[in-house]
Amino acid sequence: MGNIILGIESSCDDTSASIIDDGFIRSNIIAGQKVHELYGGVVPELASRAHQSNIIPVVDAAIKQAGISKDDITAIAFTRGPGLLGSLLVGTSFAKGFALAQKVPLIEVNHLQGHILAHFVKKEGAENKQPNFPFLCLLVSGGNSQIVLVKDHLDMEILGTTIDDAAGEAFDKCAKVIGLPYPGGPIVDRNAKLGNPDAFKYSKPRIADYNYSFSGLKTSFLYQIRDNVKVNPNFINENMNDICASLQKTIIDILLDKLIKAAKDTGIKEITVAGGVSANSGLRDRLTLEAKKRKWNLFIPEFAYTTDNAAMIAITGYYKFLKGEFVDQSISPMARMTL
Ligand code: KG4
Repeated sequence: MGNIILGIESSCDDTSASIIDDGFIRSNIIAGQKVHELYGGVVPELASRAHQSNIIPVVDAAIKQAGISKDDITAIAFTRGPGLLGSLLVGTSFAKGFALAQKVPLIEVNHLQGHILAHFVKKEGAENKQPNFPFLCLLVSGGNSQIVLVKDHLDMEILGTTIDDAAGEAFDKCAKVIGLPYPGGPIVDRNAKLGNPDAFKYSKPRIADYNYSFSGLKTSFLYQIRDNVKVNPNFINENMNDICASLQKTIIDILLDKLIKAAKDTGIKEITVAGGVSANSGLRDRLTLEAKKRKWNLFIPEFAYTTDNAAMIAITGYYKFLKGEFVDQSISPMARMTL
């Protein structure tokens, strides 16, 4: 056994624990929270309560599945932020208590850095191809849309970011307009496979540098749907797949325009994608196409590592462990945290 890191993730509505042994994954347990489906979005107080009841069984399952005992753990890494404060408090408090009891070092992890470093989780017996530094990461989730220049595991620079909504929010909010349940992103993806992406045109932003904006798209989408429904009350049902395909294409075009620009300007051809929206099949297909055309070395994460998971926290913790970047018991979570 090598350096064994227990990772804990509780930033939003998934409670997760993972064991990473010298960079190799041994377990990654994720407990989702169905309770929010009733409300059309994550309810922070309910999320904290669910984390509270999930955290011990989830950590226990991660340790058991890894085939180790708690005394084998070398260090504990936890998500400090960004996220919902009540949710973060559960993971942070648990990690602090466990580290104190086990007398092992404690490591704080930025959730966004975790998403990016998910590409470095190794699997026994697999090829384990990893991006070379420097690489660009398109980080797209429910709370973020960024282009990040990754110079080393722990050295990252944000080249561009959203000035309003994130790509995941654009998916979810537009999905809500057409009556889809939360989170709408995966449903839009599913419907889009059966629709015509050129059926409708929605507004694209004109914005400087490598930054993103999705609020104009959201407004143009809302107005177009409202105007069409006035004329034909059945418009949404009759055109659901075409609407989803056109919306998805617009979001992907917006994301790719800036990523291509950043790759051209920096001359970097090592390209990665991370975060919940990287599960989108249209985005994956388009990235694969662009990679072929532009000779990019493209890294798309496994589905298990697209949404929130503790393996990405444990791997980030591993790299911080190697550098001796530990924190003490005075540490507290941070709802807002940048890279
Ligand atoms: O990274 P994530 O799990 O949570 C954080 O924001 O940290 O991302 C969740 C977001 C949601 O907005 C969800 O709708 C979106 O990722 N998402 C998708 C797909 N799967 C998840 N969006 C489009 N297509 C998908 N297949």
